[in-house]
Formats: sequence, structure tokens, C-alpha cells
Amino acid sequence: MKKIFVTRKIPESGIEKLKEAGHEVIVSEKDGVLTREELLGALAHNNPDAVLSLLTDTIDAEIYDAAPNAKIFANYAVGYNNIDVQAAKERGVTITNTPGVLTDSVAEYAMSMICTVSKRIAEGDRFTRAGKYDGWGPLLLLGNDLKGKTLGILGAGRIGTRVAEIAHKGFGMNVVYYDIKENEYIEKDANATFYGTPEEVLAIADVVSVHVPLLDSTRHLINAERLAIMKKSAVLVNTSRGPVIDEEALVEALRKKTIRRAALDVFEDEPALAPGLTELENVLLTPHTASATEETRGAMSDIAAQNIIAALAGETPPNVVEPA
Ligand code: DGY
Repeated sequence: MKKIFVTRKIPESGIEKLKEAGHEVIVSEKDGVLTREELLGALAHNNPDAVLSLLTDTIDAEIYDAAPNAKIFANYAVGYNNIDVQAAKERGVTITNTPGVLTDSVAEYAMSMICTVSKRIAEGDRFTRAGKYDGWGPLLLLGNDLKGKTLGILGAGRIGTRVAEIAHKGFGMNVVYYDIKENEYIEKDANATFYGTPEEVLAIADVVSVHVPLLDSTRHLINAERLAIMKKSAVLVNTSRGPVIDEEALVEALRKKTIRRAALDVFEDEPALAPGLTELENVLLTPHTASATEETRGAMSDIAAQNIIAALAGETPPNVVEPA
């Protein structure tokens, strides 16, 4: 029997799988993110053989050294920018993530954000609840249609490709994309056109949806200079990682209306928001919930468990990640 430490309560199905595989599972009792000291203390106290960690846990050399028996840190997320994968490799610790099962959930959410913000649905909800609706008006809360408009995808991985497909097939949008390399799937599924620089996409897109992982090379991919390239009528949507956008520069662009609207599910310094963001009417804000469906969060729990079970059995887990 091996001991597994789970840094926060997650859907039960994965925990059950770990127990069925004969392991002891200790789930942190704190209803919230463990502080660094709490995490270090819990690892030293439990001395686990495996750790199931969350994207809100910073996992680095000091953490590995506090859990010298842990063979694997299984991240409960597809993004793993919270983990020092190089330091893990140097210590022979395996790192895994949960790819694939979030694709539809996040893509549907990104498309919902595109619709909500383009058609000003959240603004309309606030307006109606505030008792301001005094009858139909020909100019009341005019938004924009999507059909025939150009969607710019930044990052044509699984999620970006699925957003492109939904937008093209479901909404009649034309798709252009930027990535470090061409992707035949987005071209086939969404008839998308490749551009070799983000600038080319930003200059022509009516809607820009961001789907890159957070790397040194993608931090502030959207900065003041690139925001200035975008159309005045453009909409910017981010469901990837907050630091990909310079949030202060975005607040400025939205305030000055050099772009029309934005929708953010992720933030540069989560859960803090850039000053001024909540005062703006032309931005939709949600609390990193793009993957928050019962189906997806359950599947993430199962996959994290499978990764741990394989590692503890001496096998290579299905979703090992390597240093960037
Ligand atoms: C991920 O898996 O990276 C998501 O951001 C979780 O919501």
C-alpha cells in the first residue's frame, strides 16, 4: 500500500480509483489552497509516495525535497506552468497533467464568452436586474453578430482548434490563426488560414481567442503594442492563462476603447484583478471556470488517479510532461 497526498478536495471518482488500487489517500482538510508553509508541513508530516496537486500549488525544488519518497506529482490540470518540471526531472520525479478531457468544456466556454461579450448578454442582465429596462428600444444595448466575421486563434492546440471548429461550422466565422507551427487539423476542421506572426492575426481579427500555454515566450504575448494593432471594434477573449495578457495594458485599452470588448476567465495575478478592471462595463469577468463542468472535473480526477496508479506500479503514466 502506497500513500498519496491530495492537496485539496477534488471530485471523488479519482480518489475512489486510488483506493480501489489499494492505496491510502490523504486529502487535505483545508477548504482552500494550502499556503506554502502548510504544503511543506503536510508533505513532511505525511511523507507521501505520490502527490496529486492543483494548478494553485507552486511545485518546485523545495517541495520535491520535502517529499523525498514522492515518485510523481500528478497535476490536476492540463496547464502545468505552476510546476518546475526541470527540477522534477533532475530528481527523477515524474510530472503528469490531464490533457484531452478539458478540450470540449473549455472550447464551449470560450465560444460562450465570445457570444456573451459580442451580444452584451451580461451587460443586459445587469441592466435588467437593476430595474433599468423600461421597454424595447431600437438602439438599446446593440452588440455585434459573428457570422462572416474573422476569428483569430492564438495557439492552435486541441482547445484552440475546437473553438475554431465550433466558430466556423456553428457560427459561420472565418478563422485565421497564429502558432509556432502550422496545424493541419485547424486548417481541415475550420478551413483556417495560418499566419506566421501574432501581429498579422491581431490586425485582421474581429474576435481574438487566446489558447497558448504559459511559457517564458508567451508571457505578455498580448501587450500594449499588440493591443494597439487590434481593430477598434475587436473583442479579446482569454481562457488560457492570465499572464499571457498584460492586464494593466488591457484595462487601459478597454478604458480608452482602442479595442471594443474583452472576456477574461483567467487573470495575471489570480485571484487578484488589475486595478480598474471591475469598473469597466465592456469586459466580462469569470473566475477561472472554463473547465468547471461536472463531467470534465470528474474526468480530470480520474486521469490524475490513473497517472498516479501507473507510476506507483512502476509503469510510465499516460500523461507525462517534459521540461519546455
Ligand atoms: C487547466 O487544466 O489548465 C485549467 O486551467 C483548469 O481549469
